[in-house]
Amino acid sequence: MIKKAREAILHCRRLRVLTGAGISAESGVPTFRGANGLWGKYNVMELATPEAFQRNPELVWKFYNWRREVIAKVKPNPAHKALVDLEKIIPDFLLITQNVDGLHQQAGNKNMVELHGNIWWVKCTTCEYLAQDRSIPLPSLPTCPKCSSLLRPNVVWFGEALDPEVLDKAIEAIENTEVLLVIGTSAVVQPAASLIWLAKEKGALIIEINIEKTEASEIADITLLGKAGEVLPQLVKSFRE
Ligand code: NAD
Ligand code: APR
Ligand code: ZN
Repeated sequence: MIKKAREAILHCRRLRVLTGAGISAESGVPTFRGANGLWGKYNVMELATPEAFQRNPELVWKFYNWRREVIAKVKPNPAHKALVDLEKIIPDFLLITQNVDGLHQQAGNKNMVELHGNIWWVKCTTCEYLAQDRSIPLPSLPTCPKCSSLLRPNVVWFGEALDPEVLDKAIEAIENTEVLLVIGTSAVVQPAASLIWLAKEKGALIIEINIEKTEASEIADITLLGKAGEVLPQLVKSFRE
């Protein structure tokens, strides 16, 4: 199977990659739904929704300060690095990530979109203020330097819509690709997951890398079961052979 996947990627001009929390798992960032995933320990609706932030901003900021502390200690793993190598080889490459940990940028990927924002960015709940702030921790209730309103993490919460420009860019790229590589996502959250079905509908070859089967496995042309940090480097290493 890995040979078939390598052939498909080696000969394609246009490649899109969709990543989820699983690609950062081997860096030590907890996933959401897998075994001892984040959402198993916490009540999502208490922490990652606009209503939760309205009701108890200190608690939500405490959660995101904890996640910033965890993520600040981790580094990109071989799977992230393999995608940087891949970007150098493929003429028309776009990485679409659901992750907010910034590890793809840290590894060196350039041509990419973050569907759910980035944990290192904060935005104002009132005005247009948006900035990167890597302080750990942020004050328990950080305020906007422009209008003194409360700042929030610049991530997409449950029940929120994605930035339409970001989603449109991802959809446009997905509608024009030969291969879609789907890595480390449970493919259950919308609208990110719908991009996989859209790629399939438009005739792209779907290659999935995951430690277990997912909702997307039924439409994947190739499913490589294994850890992204082991499978991806094997897939990309062979290009140098
Ligand atoms: P949801 O089912 O509420 O849908 C998210 C948004 O996408 C909604 O506005 C919905 O109307 C819209 N949507 C759904 N299907 C769509 C499609 N096919 N095309 C265009 N728009 C579509 O999703 P959710 O599970 O409540 O999560 C909301 C978002 O928040 C998701 O993208 C999720 O990944 C994200 N999230 C991020 C974090 C984090 O820590 N970064 C945590 C939780 C959720
Ligand atoms: N290698 C490959 N896949 C892995 C690995 C690994 N080492 N470890 C875990 N996985 C897989 C799991 O099998 C699971 O399918 O990664 C996937 C993680 O799924 P989720 O925890 O649901 O994360 P994700 O799919 O990114 O969630 C989507 O939902 O909570 C929101 O916004 C949040 O972006 C997130 C979105
Ligand atoms: Zn403001």
